[in-house]
Amino acid sequence: MNEMIFKDKVAVVTGAGGTLCSAVAVELARLGAKVALLGRTVAKLEPVAASIRATGGTALLLSVDVTDAAAVETAHRRIAQELGPCTLLVNGAGGNRNDAVTTPTEFQPAEISDAKTENMRGFFNLDPNIMLEVIKLNTVGTLIPCQVFGREMAQQGRGAIVNFASMNSYRPLTKNLAYSLSKAGVVNLTQWLAVYLAPAGIRVNAVAPGFFANERSRKILMTDDGGLTARGQNVMAHTPMKRFGEAQDLLGTVCWLLDDERAAFVTGVTIAVDGGFSASSGV
Ligand SMILES: NC(=O)c1ccc[n+]([C@@H]2O[C@H](COP(=O)([O-])OP(=O)(O)OC[C@H]3O[C@@H](n4cnc5c(N)ncnc54)[C@H](OP(=O)(O)O)[C@@H]3O)[C@@H](O)[C@H]2O)c1
Repeated sequence: MNEMIFKDKVAVVTGAGGTLCSAVAVELARLGAKVALLGRTVAKLEPVAASIRATGGTALLLSVDVTDAAAVETAHRRIAQELGPCTLLVNGAGGNRNDAVTTPTEFQPAEISDAKTENMRGFFNLDPNIMLEVIKLNTVGTLIPCQVFGREMAQQGRGAIVNFASMNSYRPLTKNLAYSLSKAGVVNLTQWLAVYLAPAGIRVNAVAPGFFANERSRKILMTDDGGLTARGQNVMAHTPMKRFGEAQDLLGTVCWLLDDERAAFVTGVTIAVDGGFSASSGV
């Protein structure tokens, strides 16, 4: 895609300092959008803003927690003032926590007995409050920007939203209970909003990335010497294209879903970008 298909449109990208959505933000700017970069850590957003500005693009950087409705509303007011009304929203803020996953892949009697070691965390040892944090980030942290920026889109009678689901949305991966249920929620939220917002001229879709190495997952999937951990090998064995995704692999799908011309009749879908992972039974 080389045309300025988003020329002068205002795009809001949450999680814009992250592995995947930093690339999405830069691509939207390359295609002409004025981009608001949202995330909590300014230091992660700065290089993304710099890279956009270096090529003559417009980037506005805002430190905001997407689960805080008042903070997102404040960010919205600044974006409206400095860039104009938003018609494109990418909800990339999301993720998991190490202390919200189980250590075994299935029940082990030790997790409910005195034999439980300190490092063991079975389902029965998970902290509900920590799980709630993960669920809140991925669901409420998507819902709030949809409400705040979707309202402005409804006032304009047009807009496109892309949410970030996951392979966990379809079938839960072992260990990842809270993350899986929250990402299943993202697909459901995407469908619900697509139906509700169709009369307002707003399309709502999602992408479901397969395995892309980010700061956290790199440690889970790769060894220090660049090889694969046992879990990384398991993922690779179930990925027909035999590689992890690169942020660039997502750009065509995200930009197509945001494009009111090419995806004019597409709403309520979640597109897997996964090297065939979700199609593979592994057998
Ligand atoms: N990488 C994968 O393999 C993969 C696969 C499937 C789905 N996904 C999903 O794709 C999205 C992007 O993933 P990624 O790999 O790019 O992850 P990442 O590198 O960890 O980026 C996520 C970004 O979200 C921001 N964030 C976290 N909590 C936030 C909050 N409360 N408010 C505002 N920003 C917040 C983080 O920055 P701060 O901490 O500074 O706020 C971070 O920069 C996520 O939703 C993830 O769940 C990723």
